[in-house]
Amino acid sequence: MLLGNDAPLGVFDSGLGGLTVVRALREACPRESIVYLGDTARVPYGTRSAETVVRYAIGCARVLVRQGVKALVVACNTVSAVAIDALRVEFDLPVLGVIVPGARAAVRAAGAGPIGVLGTRGTISSGAYPRAIAAISTRAEVIGQPAPLLVPLVEEGWLDGEVPELVVRRYLEPLAEKRVRSIVLGCTHFPLLKSVIAKVSQSLSSDPVAIVDSAEATAEDVVSFLAERDLAAQRVPRDTSLELLVTDLPKSFAEVAARFLGHEIENVKAIDL
Ligand code: DGL
Repeated sequence: MLLGNDAPLGVFDSGLGGLTVVRALREACPRESIVYLGDTARVPYGTRSAETVVRYAIGCARVLVRQGVKALVVACNTVSAVAIDALRVEFDLPVLGVIVPGARAAVRAAGAGPIGVLGTRGTISSGAYPRAIAAISTRAEVIGQPAPLLVPLVEEGWLDGEVPELVVRRYLEPLAEKRVRSIVLGCTHFPLLKSVIAKVSQSLSSDPVAIVDSAEATAEDVVSFLAERDLAAQRVPRDTSLELLVTDLPKSFAEVAARFLGHEIENVKAIDL
């Protein structure tokens, strides 16, 4: 087990959507090794109660902590929205989430205009994004829009064409009526629909609307955090590793992960929590 700076980052999500954060991390900090856990047996989290999500999240984090990770990156917006405080109390290592970096990027992108947030029902009803945005800018107006149907569309690989466009339009219309100037992709799965979301939102608005990818914002946040704490890995990028753990269906996960990360995935390990 590697210790100190060269220990891996532990990244987890309810399923495969968190690979958007893994991809962003590999671009932003290529020296970092990653152990990723996707709780594919229990996805989706976005439709469950906060108590259940906290329980699931603690189970996932425990596995990663046992692997000797130096910090936890919670890729899942729903977990970041409802369970991050519980994780920080339970585990004695840094825990970084996706909400605060996404909120910061949204405020930067929106200027003085209202901010729209797309997320799961759990994320939107938690109020975590409005709270995080209010802590940065007291004047920003935030309009949350649950967009639950986008999760199964991504899981099915329906990333463009008529059906996603129609569904996205239905979710974006209320945001366009409020004349939002930026839209946060507040769910791991939504960056995969970024081009459809950008196209539809532009067709609904005469002003430019910035699309904020919380995965990219999170990766930037992780880089600055590691640098500030003197925790960044020292090794050369070719010696980094990516270990993938899932709680169900390792084969289909490996196929999607290979497509998504752009290289063959040799080994996805199935584990029981
Ligand atoms: N990972 C979840 C999120 O980012 C989306 C999928 C789910 O509902 O579990 O909110």
